[in-house]
Amino acid sequence: MTSGISRRAENVPPFIVMDVVRATNEMEARGEKVIHCEVGQPGTPAPRGALEAAHAALERDRIGYVEALGIPALRERIARHYADRYGIRLDPQRVVVTTGSSAGFLMAFLAAFDAGARVAMATPGYPPYRNILAALGLLPVDIVATETERYQPTVGGIASAGSLSGLIVASPSNPTGTMVSREEMADLAATCRRRGTRLISDEIYHGLTFESRATSALEVTDDAIVINSFSKYFSMTGWRIGWMVVPPDLVRPVERLTQNLLISTPTLSQFAAIAAFDCTEELEAHVRRYRANRDLLLEGLPKAGFDHLTRPTGAFYLYADVAHLTNDSVEFCRRMLREAGVAATPGVDFDPQRGHRTLRFSFAGSTADMEEAVRRLVSWKR
Ligand SMILES: Cc1ncc(COP(=O)(O)O)c(C=O)c1O
Repeated sequence: MTSGISRRAENVPPFIVMDVVRATNEMEARGEKVIHCEVGQPGTPAPRGALEAAHAALERDRIGYVEALGIPALRERIARHYADRYGIRLDPQRVVVTTGSSAGFLMAFLAAFDAGARVAMATPGYPPYRNILAALGLLPVDIVATETERYQPTVGGIASAGSLSGLIVASPSNPTGTMVSREEMADLAATCRRRGTRLISDEIYHGLTFESRATSALEVTDDAIVINSFSKYFSMTGWRIGWMVVPPDLVRPVERLTQNLLISTPTLSQFAAIAAFDCTEELEAHVRRYRANRDLLLEGLPKAGFDHLTRPTGAFYLYADVAHLTNDSVEFCRRMLREAGVAATPGVDFDPQRGHRTLRFSFAGSTADMEEAVRRLVSWKR
């Protein structure tokens, strides 16, 4: 008989931002006011129409298990969203409702890749991509992306990564807020197709764009797995609901995996999500606030010495190169929190190699908080 902890569990790295969160909680417990530029979630609740739909569902429905692939009305509503937003005709049968995009990744990786498969993504990038892959016995491959590449994977980067079963692209990206153009997405999709690499497009920040709308991989290919969520644009983070669009041959495998691993996705959240699509006015007001916050930080942070910033065209993050200020972003963030009362995320979470010289500021909070963050950082005597 053996006992102990599996290697995969032992090796999963922590999310370092959670240490910042713990420190902010301690400061707030002492009554100190912290400005939160570390959190990657909207400060707003679910839109009113979604809340009303949830209340109505509680009165009417028993909230039992539902179909593993999702309630048909929600799958149809999501397919309609692709017609409305992107002008794409999408078969609702290819839409899979998931427990947040996080479960989407899990199902996509399990359905598309065998153990040992190599799957690439750009660094800096969202840490769980790499960590979920590793926990499943897959091999994450970093494509080190540069500032001039706007931290996005390129055709050249893919070529130098060797043989790949998969490529993850996030546009807009976390932590940089940069996007790939339609031409770049088409080139990436064509390269993947030529090399027999499955393209996985994380479109969780679609809708949160400030200059032009983001291109969906579905506009340029039918082979990709597209992952999306109600957590960001739709402001429903804790409802744990998202969706995938998969090629027809993956529908049944994903259905079987979901039936066995999760049974179904939270039913109440599905009823609420259907209604969220009709809350455009409220949700677009959030986007206007994020744009104002971005502009405010782009103007204000350089006055505080943060003058090497990546200009985000989407999401709610600003990636700052702080090489002239520190060589230890974790310690720098700790000190900034302690001395200026502003919480940010050290870059090491997103880029193990270069992140000790970068920070991520989230501007998902209120505009008043962003103004206060700038005021505090300008007067911070480092
Ligand atoms: C790029 C990216 N993908 C996926 C997720 C996971 O989101 P959820 O599981 O809430 O849909 C996040 C959360 O911050 C993210 O930033």
